Amino acid sequence: MDRIHIKGGSRLNGEIKISGAKNAALPLMIASLLTNETLTLENLPRLADVSLLARILGNHGVDYSLNGKRPGEDIDSGQTAHLTAREIVDTTAPYDLVSKMRASFWVIAPLLARAGEARVSLPGGCAIGTRPVDLLLMALETLGAKIDIDAGYVVATTPRGFVGGEITFPKVTVGGTHTAMMAAATAHGSTLIRNAAREPEVKDLADCLNKMGARIHGAGTPTIEVTGVAKLGGARHSVLPDRIETGTYATAVAMTGGDVLLKGAVADHLQEALDALAAAGATVSSDNQGVRVKRNGAGISPVDIETAPFPGFATDLQAQFMALMTRAKGVSRIRETIFENRFMHVQELARLGARIKLDGDTAIVEGVSKLRGAPVMATDLRASVSLVIAALAAEGETIVNRVYHLDRGFENLEHKLSACGAEVTRISG
Ligand code: UD1
Repeated sequence: MDRIHIKGGSRLNGEIKISGAKNAALPLMIASLLTNETLTLENLPRLADVSLLARILGNHGVDYSLNGKRPGEDIDSGQTAHLTAREIVDTTAPYDLVSKMRASFWVIAPLLARAGEARVSLPGGCAIGTRPVDLLLMALETLGAKIDIDAGYVVATTPRGFVGGEITFPKVTVGGTHTAMMAAATAHGSTLIRNAAREPEVKDLADCLNKMGARIHGAGTPTIEVTGVAKLGGARHSVLPDRIETGTYATAVAMTGGDVLLKGAVADHLQEALDALAAAGATVSSDNQGVRVKRNGAGISPVDIETAPFPGFATDLQAQFMALMTRAKGVSRIRETIFENRFMHVQELARLGARIKLDGDTAIVEGVSKLRGAPVMATDLRASVSLVIAALAAEGETIVNRVYHLDRGFENLEHKLSACGAEVTRISG
């Protein structure tokens, strides 16, 4: 299994091209199941999760082809993929695949819309908590699906197709909102989705569905209206830039010091996190080229944060921010409100010398003047990258084991960091 070797102490200077967003690419790829025509997706990141989902969609009947490399394209250019689900050939999503990637559960809505039946494995727990799917099933039932649970599978049918209705989510859910929009797009009649997730990836999916012929209004606000259409067709859509990758590298620069332009990043997609970095002592600016983050000389100030649905502080940036706070001059409090068990990185950060105490949903981080390299291992992708950030500022050498977590969510991580002066290398095998 690959490992990443990091020698800490270098500042980051230069440019990092931000890739297409994993969390937009996955639902966009799944949307290809909704039509028998071709959906072309540009700016798709090269990630293990994208390849795995392509395999899963292949089982359902999606033809997936990637454009070859074009002249002038470099390693940082996104890929263009063509996805065509001429026919749905299999309506079962088996446990061994769904358990590898939770988001693949979302195939349930388009399978029901196209084929009237779906048998999709319950995803099970994961490293960051129980993560139920009750709200996704509630949305599908509200739109007329009949649902049973049998031997760990959700067995669902829509004998007369989806029927429009009113869905009110008691809790903001990204996957629930994606599912509701995909089910409602070709339902008979109109659907109102209340307390919808407002994440940029929800808006990106709605934009793509609208290009495919859907009639979705209000995505990006808490109330989404969907007027069902008879059929969706092909479209071409470019995946939006990854705000979590942006926030991760922005935090890395705040940690090491230096000056990096995050090319193609959109500041509005992570304003709360950028504000927190500025409060910690970084200088953040943005223009049409991207987001620029600098930190010179001055130390890191402690900043309290609390995760929240968009536009709040993203839970997917919590671990990275905690890594930064381990070097702050003082005590910070980090409260996780989205997932119940998302502090798996705390023990590993402690191996690098961090001082962190847990009190329920809050981590109390007492900044230290020095971190020291060590072998570490992480259990999810955001936690893994928090260890990379800590290692960049640690004295000596760190080996991050189980790199496949990083490969799930970060394209060319070691290449992007070393191009800015970090000493990061991959050890194969
Ligand atoms: C998505 C993101 C993930 C991010 C999360 C929150 C993708 C591929 N993944 O995950 O990176 O951390 O949003 O921003 O886009 N919940 C229920 N019942 C449900 C569904 C969710 O109780 O049926 C709860 C969850 O346990 C969690 C909260 O709702 O506490 C938010 O989860 P949700 O927004 O659905 O996360 P995902 O869509 O799975």
